Amino acid sequence: MLNQVEELASKALDELAKVTNVNELEAWRIRYLGRKGNLTQILRSLATVSLDKRREVGARANELKNSLDTAFNEKKAELESGSILISGRETLDVTLPGQQISLGRLHPTTQILEEICDIFVSMGFQVVEGPEVEWDYYNFEALNMPADHPARDMFATLWVDFKDKTGDRPMLLRTHTSPVQIRVMEKTPPPIRIIAPGRVYRYEATDATHEWMFYQIEGLAVDKNITLADLKGTLFEFARRLFGEDRKCRFRCDYFPFVEPGVEVAIDCLVCRGAGCRLCGNSGWIEILGAGMVHPEVLRRLGIDPQIYSGFAFGMGVERIPILRYGIDDIRLFYSNDLRFLKQF
Ligand code: FA5
Repeated sequence: MLNQVEELASKALDELAKVTNVNELEAWRIRYLGRKGNLTQILRSLATVSLDKRREVGARANELKNSLDTAFNEKKAELESGSILISGRETLDVTLPGQQISLGRLHPTTQILEEICDIFVSMGFQVVEGPEVEWDYYNFEALNMPADHPARDMFATLWVDFKDKTGDRPMLLRTHTSPVQIRVMEKTPPPIRIIAPGRVYRYEATDATHEWMFYQIEGLAVDKNITLADLKGTLFEFARRLFGEDRKCRFRCDYFPFVEPGVEVAIDCLVCRGAGCRLCGNSGWIEILGAGMVHPEVLRRLGIDPQIYSGFAFGMGVERIPILRYGIDDIRLFYSNDLRFLKQF
């Protein structure tokens, strides 16, 4: 009978080691420690053995009962501590370290676009959009650049091979966001205050500050008594909010056929702080936008009387902003899909 007790001890402990969930544990308890369990039956049958044997076997059986009770409680605590039962059989140990899920994020260009739009919206500008595939009329002609105007060369153009019914309306990928100015002015009487973010395309070689596809934000304000001082005030306030008080901002004369006068705005290069480097072409400045007072001829052609109304407009290169802010030394990093770069924003 002692052998029977020893066999039971090793069998019970073996089986307990294989138990993986609370249901199996309960079945094990009933099988060995329950009222009709194997060990209980041995204890009951002690009455039939001689007194000597009864003492020896009884002591061992009681010892086994205590150790099985302890083993049961330990197993129960282990299963309850970190395990979740799935479909009655498998368990999930919630205390194990999980697998890290990498989170998606907005592209740095989208982030900066949203930030810039927020600044202008807080100044009273409305956000509008225009098509990326555009007619020659909106991209050039209505902006004071008729066919054969030499200023068209400033915008290396990607033409689209398409002719509509009239056969003579050339189509292109817009080279700047300025056509949205025309689309807005032809539909909306002044006062106008809009910004127009979007992609633009140029047929040009890429380098550290030039891409063939990039983003611009156009700004346009048309009202009575708008002057160059309003343009300057708006852009200085924008630069102050985006880059902080201590960054320098430079206004210089520039030429665009659709504004008069025209200006170019640059910010001091963050990489070299004005000393000159590869990013700023050793000038110490990075040009971020072209701007000016809307040309009276543009207003007149759209039915807005330039004797009564005046306006300012600007067109900003969006990628140049994070370049300046974070000291990124190559614009091509934005669209080369390198996650090591993109995950930093
Ligand atoms: C224009 O595109 C004019 N439409 C801007 C304008 C609007 C002038 C309204 C007057 C009134 P420009 O070609 O300079 O101008 O481009 C404007 C800005 O876009 C530049 O200052 C620069 O920041 C950015 N930019 C120009 N070319 C590229 C390029 N290849 N890659 C990245 N950014 C560019």
